[in-house]
Amino acid sequence: GRKFFVGGNWKCNGTTDQVEKIVKTLNEGQVPPSDVVEVVVSPPYVFLPVVKSLLRPEFQVAAQNCWVKKGGAFTGEVSAEMLANLGVPWVILGHSERRALLGESNEFVGDKVAYALSQGLKVIACVGETLDQREAGSTMEVVAAQTKAIAEKINDWSNVVIAYEPVWAIGTGKVATPAQAQEVHASLRDWLKTNVSPEVAESTRIIYGGSVTAANCKELAAQPDVDGFLVGGASLKPEFIDIINAAT
Ligand code: 13P
Repeated sequence: GRKFFVGGNWKCNGTTDQVEKIVKTLNEGQVPPSDVVEVVVSPPYVFLPVVKSLLRPEFQVAAQNCWVKKGGAFTGEVSAEMLANLGVPWVILGHSERRALLGESNEFVGDKVAYALSQGLKVIACVGETLDQREAGSTMEVVAAQTKAIAEKINDWSNVVIAYEPVWAIGTGKVATPAQAQEVHASLRDWLKTNVSPEVAESTRIIYGGSVTAANCKELAAQPDVDGFLVGGASLKPEFIDIINAAT
């Protein structure tokens, strides 16, 4: 079976005081053992060392991005090898906010995933369609193209989690229905089966992101192809503990 995975994407939020408070809440929360649910929180770069040092050891950390290649003269960027050197095990790549606001293309995201994996990082790779694309009936075409751009650059999927995050559901309070999420997750798994391998399709976790809350997580978690969540807003709140417990 695929181990349930719950990620908390803090995005560009937090002060030192707020970060310490969130960590305290996480450290005190009742959660399933780490062989049942994998928990990964993703603070902004500047808070990674403090969060990693204060956080209970069974919770892991992720960066929200990294540079596409080896570091060097790239002002403002943080390289995959720096994250590995800090002991940060995970990185989120291809988030829709970066695709939309910073112009990251499918190919660029594919290159980033490949380089991060080559440096020993594990990757949460994000895909998802906009409202216009959904309404035009091209959801599967869009997420398949995003996934293909990654598949073309990597061979080993064992350190990759795919996050399906419909753009229209992110930060909007408009969560995908369990049926909508299941439909895309199943199609993505089928795409992996056909285009990568049945083994990769069976073992790769496909998690859902977009307005996940304590109130809607259980129904989503009950879908056979929903292997966890990538949570934004609610990951900054005590209800994140309830979401970690969604599958139990
Ligand atoms: P929200 O949970 O705030 O909708 O954000 C989802 C997301 O983008 C996680 O990466």
